Amino acid sequence: MTASRIALRGDLLDFAADPAWGETESPAVRFRPGQWLLVEDGRIVAVQADAPGEGWLCEDHGGRLILPGFIDTHVHSPQLDVIGSYGTELLDWLETYTFPAERRYADAEVAEQGAAVFLDALLARGTTAAVVFPTVHKVSADRLFAAAQARGMRVIAGKVLMDRHAPDGLRDDVAQAERDCLDLIGRWHGRDRLAYAVTVRFAPTSTPAQLAMAGALCRADPTLYMQTHVAENRAEVQWVRELFPQARSYLDVYARAGLLHARSVLAHGIWLDADDRAALREAGAQIAHSPSSNLFLGSGLFDWRAAEAAGAAVSVASDVGGGTSLSMPATLLDAYKVQALAGQRLTAWKSLHAATRGAAAALGLEHEIGSFEPGRLADLAVWDWASEPVGARRMAVARGLHEKVFAWLTLADRSHLVSTRVAGIERYRRAHSGVP
Ligand code: GUN
Ligand code: ZN
Repeated sequence: MTASRIALRGDLLDFAADPAWGETESPAVRFRPGQWLLVEDGRIVAVQADAPGEGWLCEDHGGRLILPGFIDTHVHSPQLDVIGSYGTELLDWLETYTFPAERRYADAEVAEQGAAVFLDALLARGTTAAVVFPTVHKVSADRLFAAAQARGMRVIAGKVLMDRHAPDGLRDDVAQAERDCLDLIGRWHGRDRLAYAVTVRFAPTSTPAQLAMAGALCRADPTLYMQTHVAENRAEVQWVRELFPQARSYLDVYARAGLLHARSVLAHGIWLDADDRAALREAGAQIAHSPSSNLFLGSGLFDWRAAEAAGAAVSVASDVGGGTSLSMPATLLDAYKVQALAGQRLTAWKSLHAATRGAAAALGLEHEIGSFEPGRLADLAVWDWASEPVGARRMAVARGLHEKVFAWLTLADRSHLVSTRVAGIERYRRAHSGVP
């Protein structure tokens, strides 16, 4: 039986607002060490210094860090099978590794097993919500939604649209794709914690007619999300210029089709200009910055600072299998390195905010996830500050909270994660967690 009243004690860290760039001391940071987080019927109801009385199931994680569950705003579930593929840039990588792996997801059993492994892997890294690309096959989206529903997770996904420039077994057509989308929307959009995203793979793999159909779906129901890739790789950008000569820019291809709106999640956005950034701000759309993928595929260095200065929302994403890890701490560390190469410093506050409350706000889900405000669903993870002597020594000499959290973020891996809860229910627990 699941207790309806649970209290967890630990060092609670969340954000009240967006921390300013470069600020290691920020009023946006809410650090409440050694406090009890009270959860009733899956929702956070209070934070307090004293243990609650009778009727509460209490779990004392004193000396551990408790964070809101991470939100990965761009990841490909079938691409676990191509993570760490050697030696190519985006377009070759798609042809050589990714498309063959995605073909297998036409099979319902492959799709079902793959979805389960993928979601459990997210939970085993402290990620409780994700915006996900399955494959072109309707069944791949269907099984992903079903697996997310079984775990109570907040997942936004949709069948991938691609009706050209893709191999046999990975193309749809406009009419069939529209029918599949409408059917999936009817069955999954708004059901439990699931939402549908009109999922255009990227401009080169959709005909103008398919882009127009996708735009019409968005116009017909403004509660739908839209996800795609934009301006990731220079050869890709050049190809889009040739395919869509009438568009001002790559981003403009989507804007013209009615695909740029407040629920649009666009991965990468490395090769954007000032007009593109202004268009993102005006639309309220977000860039899902994918640093490990950008480094691994040699795509380029995203200018986070310029996006922020232009008022465009930025969230953070693993982009596995172009990305090299499902772990958000590993992803945030790569984001730090990308900014460092541009002479910028990404604080732990800016990073962690982007992977929690910032992503929630950009997705219009701030009322549900991303922080420990009362009323939010209790999607959270309990982490050890250190899991072995190297980390313990580093923690011991850290001066001040930012230094400690930044060093933790640099070193945190799966061995640090103790427990992950989704709407209060534990969905992952490390063996040898030290908790009875
Ligand atoms: N652009 C189009 N498809 C993909 C994909 O699967 N991964 C990445 N990183 N970029 C893409
Ligand atoms: Zn991607």
